[in-house]
Amino acid sequence: MVDHSLHILVTGASRGLGASLAKHCAQHYAKNHPRVLLSLVARNETALTDCARQCQHYGAEVNYYIADLQNIDTTMTMIETIAKQPVDIAFINAAASGHSTDGEEPWAQQQTIIQTNLMAAMACATGLIPSMKQRQQGKLVFISSIAAYRGFGLNPSYNASKAGIKCYADSMRHALANYGISVYTVMPGFVNSDMSAAFPGAKPLLISSDKAAMIIRKKIDNHAILIQFPWPLIAGQKLLSLLPAKWADRILTWLNYGTVTNPSKK
Ligand SMILES: NC(=O)c1ccc[n+]([C@@H]2O[C@H](COP(=O)([O-])OP(=O)(O)OC[C@H]3O[C@@H](n4cnc5c(N)ncnc54)[C@H](OP(=O)(O)O)[C@@H]3O)[C@@H](O)[C@H]2O)c1
Repeated sequence: MVDHSLHILVTGASRGLGASLAKHCAQHYAKNHPRVLLSLVARNETALTDCARQCQHYGAEVNYYIADLQNIDTTMTMIETIAKQPVDIAFINAAASGHSTDGEEPWAQQQTIIQTNLMAAMACATGLIPSMKQRQQGKLVFISSIAAYRGFGLNPSYNASKAGIKCYADSMRHALANYGISVYTVMPGFVNSDMSAAFPGAKPLLISSDKAAMIIRKKIDNHAILIQFPWPLIAGQKLLSLLPAKWADRILTWLNYGTVTNPSKK
C-alpha cells in the first residue's frame, strides 16, 4: 500500500472508453492507495451516476460533474474547482464524432466536433497545468486516435480533431518536459462503443472498451508516452501516411473509407 491518495479526472465518463477507464482505475488503484478520488465529467446524468456508483463499489470516492464541455467558460470554471484537490492523472477523453454524407459535413457538426475534441480538451489541460507545475507532478493523458496518422473521407472533421489533439499532446510533452508533468498521447484503433457503432466503415480488430482501458492504464504505469494499438492498424496507418497521397487515397477508396460516387459523373 502506498501512502498517498490519488485524484483521477476522466472526461466523457458516462459511457464507452471513459466509463471503462473510470471503472478500471477505481478497481485497480483502490487496491493499493489509501484514497482514490475520481472526478467524472459528462452530460448524461443517469449514465454518469451509474458509472459513479460502480466506481464507488470498487472503493473509490467520486465527484461527478454534469457539464457540456463545448461551453469553454464553464469548462474552465469546472476544471478550476476540480483542481482544488490536485489532479494526479487526467484522462482527456470526451469526444464527439460524425460522418460526411455525399462528401460534406454540416457546419454545426464540424463545430461541435472541433469544440469538444480539440478546444475543450485544450481548455481542460490549460486549467490543470498551473497546479501540476506547482506540485511538479501530474499526468495528462490525451485520447487521440489512429485516425490522426492519415485522414479519410468518411469523417473529415473528426480526423482533423484527432490529428490536432495528437499534435497538441506531443507539443505539450515537449513544453512541459522540465516541470515534472508527464504527457501521454493515446492512439487506439477501433474500440467497441456508441461512437464506433455509429461509424459507417469497416472496423477491423475492434476491441472492447474495458480491454482498451486496461491497455492504456498499464502503459501509463509503465511510463509509455505514446500508447497506440493494435499494431497492424498502426502499421497500416503509418504506411498510408508515408505513401504518395494519391496512392493512399486509392487504397482508402478501395477500403470504402470515404470517396462517394458523384452521381453526375456516373
Ligand atoms: N470508439 C473508437 O473506435 C475510438 C477509436 C479511437 C479513439 N477513440 C477516442 O476514444 C475516446 C472515447 O470514445 P468512445 O468511443 O468511448 O465514445 P462515446 O462512446 O461516444 O463516448 C463519448 C463520451 O464523451 C462524452 N461527451 C461527448 N460530448 C460531450 C460534451 N459536449 N460534453 C461532455 N461530455 C461529452 C459522452 O458523454 P455524454 O454524451 O453523456 O456527454 C461520452 O461519455 C474519444 O476521444 C474518441 O475519439 C475512440
